Amino acid sequence: MASQQTATTVGFILLLSVTWTFSVIPEDEVHPSFWNNKGKQALHKALGLTPNVHRAKNSILFLGDGMGIPTVTAARILKGQSKNRTGEEFVLAMDTFPYLALSKTYNVDQQMPDSAGTSTAYHCGVKARYGTLGLSASAIRTNCSSTFGNEVKSVLHRAKMAGKWVGVVSTARVQHASPAGSYSHSADRAWYSDADMTAADLRAGCRDIAYQLVYNTDINVILGGGRRYMFPNTTVDPEYPKSRGDRGDNVDLTDVWLRNKTERQVCVEQSRV
Ligand SMILES: *[C@@H]1O[C@H](CO)[C@@H](O)[C@H](O)[C@H]1NC(C)=O
Ligand SMILES: *[C@@H]1O[C@H](CO)[C@@H](O)[C@H](O)[C@H]1NC(C)=O
Ligand SMILES: *[C@@H]1O[C@H](CO)[C@@H](O)[C@H](O)[C@H]1NC(C)=O
Ligand SMILES: *[C@@H]1O[C@H](CO)[C@@H](O)[C@H](O)[C@H]1NC(C)=O
Repeated sequence: MASQQTATTVGFILLLSVTWTFSVIPEDEVHPSFWNNKGKQALHKALGLTPNVHRAKNSILFLGDGMGIPTVTAARILKGQSKNRTGEEFVLAMDTFPYLALSKTYNVDQQMPDSAGTSTAYHCGVKARYGTLGLSASAIRTNCSSTFGNEVKSVLHRAKMAGKWVGVVSTARVQHASPAGSYSHSADRAWYSDADMTAADLRAGCRDIAYQLVYNTDINVILGGGRRYMFPNTTVDPEYPKSRGDRGDNVDLTDVWLRNKTERQVCVEQSRV
């Protein structure tokens, strides 16, 4: 609590100093006509839009984790203030997109949602429980047997079934909940490798998220962190000699993934990277 209070106080002081620095209102903004004209311009722009009726060949879901309206507002103000403006009036590149929409990606069983349940929402179109991945809300977190029969399919999986090439790219580990909703069905987001699961759950047929990354959908491109979950605990990391893999099942998942690719595919993938 104490540190939270300190943080709040610091935030308050920063806010005050920012407000004082930018207290001058641009002259035209005091006139109603300024705002009315802006409204007209926005309306004309929207009316003049020519809808793109072509069929999309490919699509990219680009996600900022936790990027709700308050986060975007904070970014807009910060960017504007970095240009010595008050900030609120700044227009982010994405504010200018011709089509914008809002979606709600909550969890069904808890008010503060997590990346797993929300990942299930935006990848699979089904709202789910806190901490669960690629499963309907019939599944219960950490309950392995509640996985079976409750799997929901992602847009990545559907695209692959439709003959598309698919990829997962993340600045986090690729087994992290946000990307993992595109390919895994896991009663617990923390089941990164088999070492994170109980022997009973493994015997019951539940699989860790890294395993599912390679085995569930044949993904063409995988870029991100989380290498340790792909290698046996006897394998030394190629980059950090003091680290080893995490897996207890002695499976090299990267090798499994590579072996299943034709030479041509791997070649193209490498040249694209
Ligand atoms: C903003 O104002 C400060 C102080 O007047 C100045 O040092 C800085 O260069 C300005 N930055 C921009 C982006 O105009
Ligand atoms: C786990 O899930 C199974 C299958 O849905 C259910 O029968 C069982 O009662 C659950 N166990 C617990 C502890 O919730
Ligand atoms: C290997 O590729 C085949 C054919 O594309 C696919 O059916 C299978 O699911 C893939 N296996 C793995 C482990 O990715
Ligand atoms: C690797 O995992 C196996 C199976 O869980 C375990 O028995 C072994 O002790 C682990 N080895 C290391 C080096 O962590």
